[in-house]
Amino acid sequence: MKGIILAGGTGARLYPLTKMMNKHLLPVGRFPMICYGIDRLRKAGIKDILLIIGKASAGLYLNFLGSGVEWGVNISYKIQENAGGTAQALNLAQGYISPQEKFVVLLGDNLFQDDLTPYVVAFRDQPPGSARVLLKRVNDPKRFGVPVFDPNNPDLIIRIQEKPKKPPANYCVTGIYMYDSFVFEAIDQIQPSARGELEITDVNNIYAELGRLQFDVLRGWWTDAGTFDSLQEASRKLRGLHP
Ligand code: DAU
Repeated sequence: MKGIILAGGTGARLYPLTKMMNKHLLPVGRFPMICYGIDRLRKAGIKDILLIIGKASAGLYLNFLGSGVEWGVNISYKIQENAGGTAQALNLAQGYISPQEKFVVLLGDNLFQDDLTPYVVAFRDQPPGSARVLLKRVNDPKRFGVPVFDPNNPDLIIRIQEKPKKPPANYCVTGIYMYDSFVFEAIDQIQPSARGELEITDVNNIYAELGRLQFDVLRGWWTDAGTFDSLQEASRKLRGLHP
């Protein structure tokens, strides 16, 4: 299985730090943020990794990670010219993924403790054209995508509401997703959101409407690191860890 990390975007919520370098290169504990996602994929046996990165920091990524050999993985890169959204970034992986091939997608600012292996194993058994997302119980679901569970089937999500004012659950949909090449057909069907971006939540809602969106709930800690508060929390959690 391959892995894709979305590590583009503008990092506007971390300005002015992100004026200097891309968010995913900022230090978290003793390493740049990007290292932790690579580590989680490698731990699950995923060694072929595509990084979707922006133009401005491309040289820094190459200098630091190179081919990935020092990190025990094979890294490829694709440039997202303009930050047009998570689904636009993911669409750049077309060509890296073979027809019907299954893969894992991480949002690069998501940091978490769980070993992905059991979730990847469960996803391997799912039928072609279905997807799996990982959830986490949170106190502040309004900041995230929030699942609506299927009352008739405990395995399925029937809808994801993106940053809802009245969250339907105390869970967030984390930036850990599993797809096969059907995802590129789903991306073709979506339109830009109110914030003018192609959103991964709209892609996931296509699976949800088809009754093909399964989930697991993370057991260990999880945080995004896209705001000053969450970046500090992530640093505190990961200070002693060596990916
Ligand atoms: O952190 C989990 C949340 O991530 C989910 O609960 C939401 O459903 C999902 O939409 C996403 O919300 P955010 O508003 O936090 O997404 P953001 O725009 O910050 O982008 C998330 C990651 O994707 C970040 O690591 C940068 C990368 N990205 C983003 C954009 C807009 C790209 O690589 N390219 C892009 O164009």
